[in-house]
Amino acid sequence: MMEMFRHLAPSYDRINRFISLGGDLRWRQRAADEAMKSRPALLLDLATGTGKMAQAVQRKGGKVVAVDLSPSMLDIAATEAGKGTALLLGHVLKLPFQDDSFDALTIAFALRDFPGLAGPFREGYRVLRPGGKLVCVELSQPQRWAALFHHLYMNRAVPAIGRWLGGRARDYMFLQHSVASFPTAPELARVLESVGFRQVRFRRLAAGAVAIHYGCKSYG
Ligand SMILES: C[S@@+](CC[C@H](N)C(=O)[O-])C[C@H]1O[C@@H](n2cnc3c(N)ncnc32)[C@H](O)[C@@H]1O
Repeated sequence: MMEMFRHLAPSYDRINRFISLGGDLRWRQRAADEAMKSRPALLLDLATGTGKMAQAVQRKGGKVVAVDLSPSMLDIAATEAGKGTALLLGHVLKLPFQDDSFDALTIAFALRDFPGLAGPFREGYRVLRPGGKLVCVELSQPQRWAALFHHLYMNRAVPAIGRWLGGRARDYMFLQHSVASFPTAPELARVLESVGFRQVRFRRLAAGAVAIHYGCKSYG
């Protein structure tokens, strides 16, 4: 995984922009707008990568702590991070924060790289304060009418675009496989509930190819 992101880091943003037909920035901004609605004083962005989600939050005036496992990705994040963002090397299963430290938690396009789903969400839940909000934007399973186009696009176009823009096709085949085996939006919602999140809901975007999930840490 580390090796993959070391390779991907320099071309990651450029390739994402092409593959998502420019949608990735818009989807993150939408998630950031949601996360900032409750005016959190301090927000944690998990698996921040090159920091695009943290930047979207900062544009709304938020203060962000952004964590990632890959030094190569964080190096790129550091070139664009504003004063309101602190970047930190860390593992999603062992966050270096006390319980109830953050008012909001964002995760963007990273779940498929995590070691399982429940563990990272449980750890995120631990560091969120009661009443704090989770906003998670992730690739998902498209709705049935769009499935064939989605399959062809992910299998054929995405690896070719990745290679053309300087990535390695096999990293983008990994993307396709991980999307195909990923839980549907309702299944992911059940994972969130299973670790304790309440008021869980989701919104599908791009014919279901992307989903934003929301949840709150309970006071109980
Ligand atoms: C596909 S990138 C997404 C980055 C970013 N959130 C975005 O919106 O573009 C996934 C990121 O997850 C990070 N990651 C993978 N496993 C991790 C872990 N166990 N702990 C922390 N970060 C991890 C990778 O280093 C990588 O930067």
